[in-house]
Amino acid sequence: MGSRPDPDPRYLLGMIRIRRAASGDLPAILDLLQVSSLPVEGVPEALPRFLVAEEDGRVVATAGIEMGSGSALLRSVAVDPGSRGSGVGVEIVRQALRFASVCGAESVYLLTTSAAGFFPRFGFVPALRAEIDAKFPDSTETARGGCCADAEAMVLRDLSRILQPHRRD
Ligand SMILES: CC(C)(COP(=O)(O)OP(=O)(O)OC[C@H]1O[C@@H](n2cnc3c(N)ncnc32)[C@H](O)[C@@H]1OP(=O)(O)O)[C@@H](O)C(=O)NCCC(=O)NCCS
Repeated sequence: MGSRPDPDPRYLLGMIRIRRAASGDLPAILDLLQVSSLPVEGVPEALPRFLVAEEDGRVVATAGIEMGSGSALLRSVAVDPGSRGSGVGVEIVRQALRFASVCGAESVYLLTTSAAGFFPRFGFVPALRAEIDAKFPDSTETARGGCCADAEAMVLRDLSRILQPHRRD
């Protein structure tokens, strides 16, 4: 019998459930963001559009979206340090992008200071900061002098690229 290839980490995600966040998840989400050095401002208000990844009843990852007109702002992408590198981050971002599409977004923006190299795999490219500020004027992420003043801006202009692999012809 020949040797099998290593299992795809995403296959192992069968043990991890990604679902909409509930109000009871807020403390765990805030902990996760704090340990990941990400801003917590605005999270309680945006919670209805947050996802969590749960393993054995414990929140191990989160990602949220805020909606603007025809666009979503992807925020708060964080994986528990002990669970990083096993595919959870990629999977929760994919789910958040699908969620953004279901909510009516045609494009998705984000601001990041620590992971600009993580997002091109989904099709994100650099964007003008002013574009995000104009589309999400009320977000705590775009607040003047706020948490993300020095962050890099990125955009995914065509969400269909993410949705495509799940289309059955
Ligand atoms: C970025 C983050 C969400 C990735 O989660 P993860 O579960 O470790 O990622 P996955 O296992 O799904 O994917 C691993 C891949 O992401 C890359 N990666 C992980 N963190 C990265 C970072 N900060 N910058 C660039 N690439 C990164 C790895 O090098 C690996 O690349 P490869 O597939 O080419 O080998 C996680 O490291 C994290 O929570 N970081 C702290 C918070 C943060 O910076 N969030 C993003 C800001 S919005």
